[in-house]
Amino acid sequence: MLSEKIIQKPAKRKFDVNEIRKDFPILNLQINGKPLCYLDNAATTHKPDIVIEGTKHYYTHENANIHRGLHFLSEAATQSYENARLKVKEYINAMSSSEIIFVRGATEAINLVAATMGNGKFIGEGDEIIVSNMEHHANIVPWQMLCERVGAKLKVIPINDNGELILEEYDKLLNEKTKMVSIVHISNSLGTINPIKEIIDRAHKFNVPVLIDGAQTVQHSRVDVQDLDCDFFVFSGHKVFGPTGIGVLYGKTSYLNQLPPYQGGGDMIRTVSFDQTTFDGLPNKFEAGTPNIVGGIGLGVALLYINSFDINDIIEYETKLLEYATEKLLSINGLKIIGTAKEKASVISFVIDGIHSYDIGTMLDTYGIAIRTGHHCSQPTMKRFGVSATARASFVLYNTFEEIDRLYNGLLKIKKMMA
Ligand code: ALA
Repeated sequence: MLSEKIIQKPAKRKFDVNEIRKDFPILNLQINGKPLCYLDNAATTHKPDIVIEGTKHYYTHENANIHRGLHFLSEAATQSYENARLKVKEYINAMSSSEIIFVRGATEAINLVAATMGNGKFIGEGDEIIVSNMEHHANIVPWQMLCERVGAKLKVIPINDNGELILEEYDKLLNEKTKMVSIVHISNSLGTINPIKEIIDRAHKFNVPVLIDGAQTVQHSRVDVQDLDCDFFVFSGHKVFGPTGIGVLYGKTSYLNQLPPYQGGGDMIRTVSFDQTTFDGLPNKFEAGTPNIVGGIGLGVALLYINSFDINDIIEYETKLLEYATEKLLSINGLKIIGTAKEKASVISFVIDGIHSYDIGTMLDTYGIAIRTGHHCSQPTMKRFGVSATARASFVLYNTFEEIDRLYNGLLKIKKMMA
């Protein structure tokens, strides 16, 4: 089976960024004649060699369909895939691995919940769904589509000028019509870390289920879904050093059992006749068709990789990067940071007077520096701050202080050129 062969059980590693960088082959690239300086980690993270090796190992030693064959390869693939599910369960401390549904990504996970909650008894006409003003489009549009379909209403928690949720306004929105709260943990466009435990507790006083969008969470901190007591938690594999096209929907068994299937097809049924179909139990009920087997396996390996570090070392290092970058960037005349919450992850959105963020991104690219520019799939957040776009630098465990210096020097050059 894959993980036993490729990876030794991870004894906790000493945090050493130079050693960590050696795990990521792509970081050796030269871009436009300069060493790659990759600061677009909120969009996607790079993959350590054990994830790359892990996926190669699957295709060279185990490739077969899962849950369907009795032959050796099918058994091996099934075992590796289910082992990956177990790794996810352990990583987020779910009660059972049947609460872990593999999906395409955080977006599909939210669509699954929104679609199935509107198919039965949970959300109907006149009901209300609460999101916030700092959501990614993936945590707005599926709920809007549901509202449109069943006649429910979307309610929005406002944010203050620092980019923090105004919790008193949240309290005013919660009432007996509220049927769902769906909130981002760490904002991809502002970096704000929301007080999700508090948000969950307040919703539960009204017996309202809470979905946490953890797309920017798992690469920066640990999650304990039982401690949080969230009802759903979603994240994407590619943002946590795993492959693209795979993600996780965690749901409490009590909810997942009550929701109808999302898609129909093979592997999610018990019996099928032309008169009637009966569905399989969890997690298969929500995994119709051949899943992204190699993606699931790669994600399992990626979580083992993060787990090989003490998470406090990662948090401490990223906090220092954030503080250093914040200070450096603020020393640039005319630069304004959008998103100045007290609790922030290592994401910095900024604008510079008189220079469009697209120009900043394009010119930085010529220096080998990758950042993201635009609305970050969060147009309502941009609107709240009166901008159409920002430039965004986001850091993870393999970034360095020297890279922040390169960003700083690059921005100074751009300012000079545009003056
Ligand atoms: N949601 C991703 C980002 O923030 C793509 O860049």
